[in-house]
Amino acid sequence: MNAAAGLSGNLAIALAAAAAAVAQVAQGKALDRALDLEGQALAGPERAAAQDIAYTACRRLNLLDALALRLMKKPNPSVDYLIRVALSELIDHATDRAHIVVDQAVCAASEIAAGAFKGLVNGVLRSFLREQETLLRELRADEALRLAYPRWWIERVREAWPDRWEAILEQGNRPPSMTLRVNLRRSTVASYAAELAAAGLAARQTGPVALTLARPVPVSRLPGFAEGLVSVQDLGAQWAAHLLCGSLVAARPGDARLRLLDACAAPGGKTAHLLESIDCEMLALDQDEGRVAAIRINLKRLGLSAQCRAADAAVLDTWWDGAPFDLVLLDAPCTASGVVSRHPDAKWLKRVGDLRQLARSQRRLLDALWHVLKPGGKLLYATCSLFPQENNQQIEAWLGQHPDARHLALPLVSTPPGAPQPLLHGVVDQLLPDAAHDGFFYALLGKD
Ligand SMILES: C[S@@+](CC[C@H](N)C(=O)[O-])C[C@H]1O[C@@H](n2cnc3c(N)ncnc32)[C@H](O)[C@@H]1O
Repeated sequence: MNAAAGLSGNLAIALAAAAAAVAQVAQGKALDRALDLEGQALAGPERAAAQDIAYTACRRLNLLDALALRLMKKPNPSVDYLIRVALSELIDHATDRAHIVVDQAVCAASEIAAGAFKGLVNGVLRSFLREQETLLRELRADEALRLAYPRWWIERVREAWPDRWEAILEQGNRPPSMTLRVNLRRSTVASYAAELAAAGLAARQTGPVALTLARPVPVSRLPGFAEGLVSVQDLGAQWAAHLLCGSLVAARPGDARLRLLDACAAPGGKTAHLLESIDCEMLALDQDEGRVAAIRINLKRLGLSAQCRAADAAVLDTWWDGAPFDLVLLDAPCTASGVVSRHPDAKWLKRVGDLRQLARSQRRLLDALWHVLKPGGKLLYATCSLFPQENNQQIEAWLGQHPDARHLALPLVSTPPGAPQPLLHGVVDQLLPDAAHDGFFYALLGKD
């Protein structure tokens, strides 16, 4: 349904669309899918505003739930989420544009059930404005509401990173930076940086092929995006290809017939980066058919090619022809606890039991994929998680069961002068999220 049909005010349209998306997240849908605004007649600025409002609301969803509970006598499914997203905006704009937010939320409510909820929305939001200081102080006395994470999540991060847990959680609540990966098959970092500057977009080089923008922009504003000059990819995610290629240079320089497997490849960010970096035969697998289509679209835009197949990578007889691979990337399904700033819905959609279940499927994938690697080959295990159960504990336990596996030192990736050094050159490397990049874990495994 078009949540914004019939609305005239820009903010009212954005609030209605954001409310519809956040309501779907509460029902278990991923925010990026819930926010698929293609079917809605939203213009660029309204679409951007709806995204911004929905992401901000998702960062603090438990606080909004608690506020709504305090301010409303009973839930009202028709406007519950309109009230939540409007409250979220009021928290940030209580002094500068509170009256506009209230007016526009009432305008959005007037579209619902012949305006029957206008008074309710108006009353709830105005009560919040009157009592906000006390309300927020009382609610934020609860740690889970102050930090805006589920309790189990806070406990896991505290347990894993006793000296850094609060900073990690706070970082996860900040909007992420926008980093680009220059396609070296079509451009260079220097010439693309010049194109950005000519388009009035400030950026600085932060990795071997990475340019981080001073401010995020829609991809439509990136010069040559449609022509495949660049992709959007977090700096930490770019380390996967650098580490795999770095491990290779020492072992097999210039091997054109290298066989690579990207086992959990969709939507193809790391597949594409590898193909931009080395000449190889690439098989990109993903168990989700729809997401395999996204890999094909991304590769086409970038002028790259790979064999793309939908399959469960752990069930070898459904996809493997018996020819072993030189390199395997296992970018395993995980809790996504390192990328909450980019995917704030992850902390609400995941349950504590998912951690155990995901660790089991990571183990199953590692066990199976070890068979497809050549002796002397390398497997890079990657997650975007901060939880040791999916990372170093997983790898240590797995190594204990695989005497033909060695845990290799990660190659040093040289970074441009002045750029952040994500310190990936140890044996076990956990990249903690910060302003420059998301959180990742990488372990390089060599087969005897
Ligand atoms: C972290 S994402 C991969 C991101 C991707 N490597 C990139 O850089 O764009 C994990 C992917 O694993 C896929 N997946 C999960 N279980 C799988 C399995 N058993 N076999 C193949 N793919 C799987 C999911 O569909 C998801 O697309």
